[in-house]
Amino acid sequence: MSKRKTFAVVNGGGDAPGLNAAIRGVARSAINAHGMRVLGIHNGFDGLIWPEGAKELTEESVSGILPRGGTILGTTNRGNPFAYRTQEDGKDVVRDYSNLCLENARRLGIDAFVVIGGDGTQHIARDFARKGMHIVAVPKTIDNDLSATDVTFGFDTAILIATEAIDRLHTTAESHHRVMLIEVMGRDAGWIALHAGIAGGAHIILIPEIPFSFQAVSEAIRQREIRGCHYSLIVVAEGAKLPATDPGGKPIPPCGPGTVANTIAFTLREMLHKEIRVTVLGHVRRGGSPTPFDRVTATRRGVHAVDLVARGEFNRMVCLRGMHIESVPLEKAWKP
Ligand code: F6P
Repeated sequence: MSKRKTFAVVNGGGDAPGLNAAIRGVARSAINAHGMRVLGIHNGFDGLIWPEGAKELTEESVSGILPRGGTILGTTNRGNPFAYRTQEDGKDVVRDYSNLCLENARRLGIDAFVVIGGDGTQHIARDFARKGMHIVAVPKTIDNDLSATDVTFGFDTAILIATEAIDRLHTTAESHHRVMLIEVMGRDAGWIALHAGIAGGAHIILIPEIPFSFQAVSEAIRQREIRGCHYSLIVVAEGAKLPATDPGGKPIPPCGPGTVANTIAFTLREMLHKEIRVTVLGHVRRGGSPTPFDRVTATRRGVHAVDLVARGEFNRMVCLRGMHIESVPLEKAWKP
């Protein structure tokens, strides 16, 4: 009798709402539609370096997880098995554990991997594919910054939460005649800021892709004042590129996620002499229950990934094009 086909599902990088829906879609489809065995690898690719936590996913173990945020598999956005940072004898060292991962996969009887992750995780998946691992990738990131897919799951939930926050800030900003800045995630891509900003009726949106000047921002606020609008909402992506100096030539201090909006506010306060308040949304948009859209697209992607595994179509990434779930070669998942 031939051995039951076994594949593993692994997720890596920051969590995103919809991850559990995708894992459930993978497990249910593998078990019910294809009679395959699925192992869940814990804590990203770390779980292949230390494979003791790998567990078979069953109907029961994925039951009830559809509306849950986070991931039942645990995750990390630190470990890259090809260049794993660790400490030995008190010294920082970088180790290549990729062969150990391949060996552990063989020992677990894994024929293929469904890898759910964003930019960083899919680069690792591609490197494993180049070493012969059979990969089907499923894109996931709230940042929506994978070019081969129209939208990644987690994004819809993230912009819903950000839009709700902007709506709430809108009313208090208007009542107090204040400028309000709201900082949202998006290290390299401004999709969350752009979509939530437009949906929430923000007056100014600052994203990494478009450099801005303090003069232009303060002028836009002054123009609103002249028109009788004594409040303004500014949505800032955490990766927004700040000018090197303020208009007086004073250097802008280095800042990053969590401090970008506050740094901008500091200079605007000096320029506008208005009350300014800052809200940093941070990880609030990554936690909690996914929207119906994220649940459905995550499920569809999980099911499609298993179909590819069953047909032996490896080293492809599942993507959403319009309303259709398709796939592209893993090597084409990013723009060069
Ligand atoms: O990549 C997704 C993301 O949400 C980025 O927008 C953000 O900079 C990063 O994760 C934050 O990661 P961490 O969980 O390590 O703070």
